[in-house]
Amino acid sequence: MDKTIAILAGDGIGPEVIREAQKVLDAIAQRFGHTFTYRASLVGAAAIDGTGDPFPAETLDNCLTADAILFGAIGHPKYDNDPKAKVRPEQGLLRMRQALGLYANIRPVVAYDALLDASPLKADIIRGTDLVIMRELIGGIYFGEPRGRNEQGDKAFDTCVYDRPGIERITRLAFDYAAKRRKKVTLVDKANVLATSRLWREVAGAYADTQPAIAYDTMFVDNAAMQLIRNPGYFDVVLTENMFGDILSDEASVITGSMGTLPSASIGEKTSVYEPIHGSYPQVAGQNRANPLATVLSAAMMLEGEFDMVEEAAAIRAAVADSIAEGQTTEDLRSGRCSTSQVGDFLASRVLE
Ligand code: IPM
Ligand code: MG
Repeated sequence: MDKTIAILAGDGIGPEVIREAQKVLDAIAQRFGHTFTYRASLVGAAAIDGTGDPFPAETLDNCLTADAILFGAIGHPKYDNDPKAKVRPEQGLLRMRQALGLYANIRPVVAYDALLDASPLKADIIRGTDLVIMRELIGGIYFGEPRGRNEQGDKAFDTCVYDRPGIERITRLAFDYAAKRRKKVTLVDKANVLATSRLWREVAGAYADTQPAIAYDTMFVDNAAMQLIRNPGYFDVVLTENMFGDILSDEASVITGSMGTLPSASIGEKTSVYEPIHGSYPQVAGQNRANPLATVLSAAMMLEGEFDMVEEAAAIRAAVADSIAEGQTTEDLRSGRCSTSQVGDFLASRVLE
């Protein structure tokens, strides 16, 4: 197959982890006889430096005309430390999500046996964890209006908004996902306090009634935050709104032992985006120390979910499993001694074997 992949490497460690993912994709192309054409565009702080805009029109155009998007990370300390900055790298990511209608962010969390000791949680608790956080990505408090300050500037407000269709489409996706897995959906919300959560319950509950083959339950987010690290095996598909999903997915990364291993897919109305859940990690940027596994696994999600390349995705996952089992990993994973590019070299050569 011939596929065009938009490459939005972004900031910090983004470019170096993307480079290794491309290395692995090239190995896949060679072994399976595909052609991947990469088209790079600026996003985030890199785009602000280059064009003044964190998500330039040229980047959007590249995204809209590609078969899929591989995204690195965005964010830069010079903006984090300046609360008054008018233009911020994160706006690039949020505008991309909105422009592409990426309503669902899918974040699988798996506990690898070889990494059970890498987690601060007890091995007995996390062994066998295999869950997916299905996070709504273009609604809720991230985008609701009105938002901002009053005239005096001494009061600030954000608005959480959801409507029925916005809840319905991601609910359907969560149930479709569960049907291919352990057949269970848990809606996480704060329906004891929030009106939006009560609408989620109404809409998701009505859809659940039409899906008798899938077990369905609900959990308040504060309790879910506890259960996620007390008994993660309880969960299969976690369906939740934008901000709860943001917070719970960082928490869930503790199960795997490192944020550096967790991939994600964002899908919606237009081109899909595949990206690691970690950020730009400026502390180690440019030092060839960042873990490329999350980006490599995101590329595997792209091959399988977008191009139907099931065997190819399995080859990547097997190479990643080998790298973890054999300790061919970066320093963030216990016993890892490899540089970023060494991990990529290892994975590419495994794919070609
Ligand atoms: C994520 C990130 C983003 C978010 C930030 C960088 C805007 O934390 O993808 O989880 O909050 O969605
Ligand atoms: Mg986040």
